[in-house]
Amino acid sequence: MPENILLESPLEGVRVIRLNRPKVLNALNADTIAEINAALEGFATDEAVRAVILTGSDRAFAAGADISEMSGQTVSSMVTQNRFALWQRIAEFPKPLIAAVNGVALGGGLELAMTCDIMIAGETARFGQPEINLGIIPGAGGTQRLTHAVGKSLAMEMVLNARMLSADEALRAGLVSSVYPPEVLMHHAVLLAKQLATRAPLALRAAKASVNAAFENSLTQGLAAERQNFYLLFGTQDQKEGMQAFLEKRRANWQGR
Ligand code: HXC
Repeated sequence: MPENILLESPLEGVRVIRLNRPKVLNALNADTIAEINAALEGFATDEAVRAVILTGSDRAFAAGADISEMSGQTVSSMVTQNRFALWQRIAEFPKPLIAAVNGVALGGGLELAMTCDIMIAGETARFGQPEINLGIIPGAGGTQRLTHAVGKSLAMEMVLNARMLSADEALRAGLVSSVYPPEVLMHHAVLLAKQLATRAPLALRAAKASVNAAFENSLTQGLAAERQNFYLLFGTQDQKEGMQAFLEKRRANWQGR
């Protein structure tokens, strides 16, 4: 049984991973990241799971990597443990992953949220990369995904000068796609996951991979990846069904085949 996360199933097809280390504002120790990975590994191959929400508490999505665990680390322990391999596996989860952020998403907490596909937030959420205050820099994507999301100048202020963003600022900057009153954030996260859970699974997977290709590659390579995924979907039953259903003016019945 995981000790640092709670697993919930609010609706058919939807799973919630809730970070649950309230005493340390959901600080991310190695065990927590391992438990998130183990949960996602199971969800990846379970056809009954169609969309996943990652969330925390009202006070904190996560206040960063666990500083007490990190404080004694050395270059060699960091290199040997290669913790980021597990973070990379979260980024490779093939189904839609929604981050629902209430409270603080700081340092590794924001990096974890940015590893998700869609980030939504409560009105009182706060976002930051305050690692500079600890004499380090972000190490799990904070200088990269954040820069893609909000642009260079704001990313520089956040990473170099620990500038925090309000939910409103995060919305305007494109870091989050929607903001809700904190008490209804999860309701909206579940609604969004429910919509995603009703969509054609193989097309969703190809869509996620294709959008992610925009972060990894040049435009030419990204377009090639998109085109390849587009072509491949014409080999699925769901493409036949989706187009037939449109022509027959009925709802498509997706099979994930
Ligand atoms: C370990 C943490 C923690 C963290 C909070 N706590 N953040 N413990 N690691 N990242 C603990 C506090 O020590 C405290 O424990 C308890 O949680 C409550 O926190 P307070 O500070 O008392 O709460 P508050 O005054 O409300 O301030 C909230 C806060 C502050 C602004 C979020 O806790 C804070 O600045 N935290 C650190 C944020 C940060 O620097 N994150 C980046 C980490 S580096 P006690 O025992 O005193 O009650 C990082 C690198 C990522 O993430 C690299 C890739 C993995």
